[in-house]
Amino acid sequence: MEEDIGPAGPGNGTQPVIRLEGVSKVYSLPFGDVIALDKVSLTIMPGEFIAIMGPSGSGKSTLLNLIGSLDVPSEGRLYIDGEDTSELSDDELTELRRDHIGFIFQQFNLIPLLNVFENVEYPMILKTRQSIRKSRKAHDLLMRIGLTDSMLAHKPKELSGGQQQRVAIARALINDPAILLCDEPTGNLDTKTGEVIMDLLKEVNASGKTVIMVTHDPDVATYASRKITLVDGRIV
Ligand SMILES: Nc1ncnc2c1ncn2[C@@H]1O[C@H](COP(=O)(O)OP(=O)(O)O)[C@@H](O)[C@H]1O
Ligand SMILES: [Mg+2]
Repeated sequence: MEEDIGPAGPGNGTQPVIRLEGVSKVYSLPFGDVIALDKVSLTIMPGEFIAIMGPSGSGKSTLLNLIGSLDVPSEGRLYIDGEDTSELSDDELTELRRDHIGFIFQQFNLIPLLNVFENVEYPMILKTRQSIRKSRKAHDLLMRIGLTDSMLAHKPKELSGGQQQRVAIARALINDPAILLCDEPTGNLDTKTGEVIMDLLKEVNASGKTVIMVTHDPDVATYASRKITLVDGRIV
């Protein structure tokens, strides 16, 4: 995998891309503690396509957010590419997220004031200070994801849900992350559009990226090569 992530060694497929050891997440609320994740251990190899399933409130989003370093464990260890994330500074975690992990969400989470082109370009500017206008690779990505030239100047709200999710996928992939995290990526889409998006994610996975997807839809989960089910914050 990328070279700047530390002394973890080459991503030759023999080292887990993600490893959790006894990871818990406890939220302290006025009326008591909520154990969102309860000593979860999990190993994910490069190139896997994982579906995280389970009922509402079972800890799926919490698990995904921890893997994506959007949040930190209350207990236990999380390794990304062999690197113990508890030993990274905030800046290093931000860098790890920016350069190695892409996110897509049920609500698309595009920036409303930016057009399609600017939304996709934004993470690349954060990383390289370069516009994607200068990048052949970025242009190829847009076309591969099915974003036509005529769509690029539009604001997100002028697009259909399926088109917005395409934009979100392109944005997630623009920095060429090794890991793509998806939280209910088809949750706001009709079945047919959902299938188109899932085919796209399948393609992304086939291109070598590790895809970890939260879904409560068994049909959507069939796209994955491994299913993990959470109940009450535990893998069952
Ligand atoms: N930021 C938070 N503060 C307090 N409780 C939270 C927070 N995020 C999640 N929870 C609680 O943690 C549990 C798991 O939530 P979540 O991971 O969102 O579940 P899922 O995605 O499976 O629906 C739930 O009981 C939820 O209410
Ligand atoms: Mg959730």
